[in-house]
Amino acid sequence: MTKTIGLICGSLRKNSYNRIIAQSLTELDDSLQFRWIEINDLPLFNEDLEISVPETVSSYKSAIQDVDGIIIVSPEYNSGIPGVLKNALDWASRPRESAVLSRKPVGLIGATPGGLGTAFAQLQIKQVLEAMQVHVLPFQKVLISQVHKKIDSDQKTLTDEQTKRYLQQYLHHFIHWIDHTPALY
Ligand code: FNR
Repeated sequence: MTKTIGLICGSLRKNSYNRIIAQSLTELDDSLQFRWIEINDLPLFNEDLEISVPETVSSYKSAIQDVDGIIIVSPEYNSGIPGVLKNALDWASRPRESAVLSRKPVGLIGATPGGLGTAFAQLQIKQVLEAMQVHVLPFQKVLISQVHKKIDSDQKTLTDEQTKRYLQQYLHHFIHWIDHTPALY
């Protein structure tokens, strides 16, 4: 059966490099379906709002429930996790006993014009996801450095062939992870 992968981008910027990378995934494997899960309309997390959860939060949680796995593609801010992404993960962690991301297969990708490929942010994101009992794909890392040199001149598509091949392999590992993680836990 065709698998559906949810894509969450940790940047709200219109011309986000990370969004371009996430978009490129949708063109790398015809056997998969992709669905964007947007986080820009989520309110700042506040336990008071849980008394009557806003519609944007409910549809965000349903979107997570409806996919087989999620790939988060995120920048790094000040060597850490962007606030908007942390906010989205906090919403997805509640209520704890029926958290929608719990046991969901999740992959992590990050891109930066800098040299370290969002390594620090990914460590933090992993730490947060582990606290939420998310099944993060182990071993495989996608740290895309100097991303501005890997995008075409109108800044709309990934052109670097090596990165494309790496992302293709990553998708392959991720599908394998989706297929096998339920049996492990
Ligand atoms: C950055 N940037 C950045 N880059 C990096 O590699 N490590 C870092 O710690 C930071 N810190 C940081 C803080 C803040 C507040 C901003 C706005 C930016 C640069 C960042 O990688 C760059 O702006 C990317 O283009 C952001 O990703 P998107 O929006 O292009 O996906």
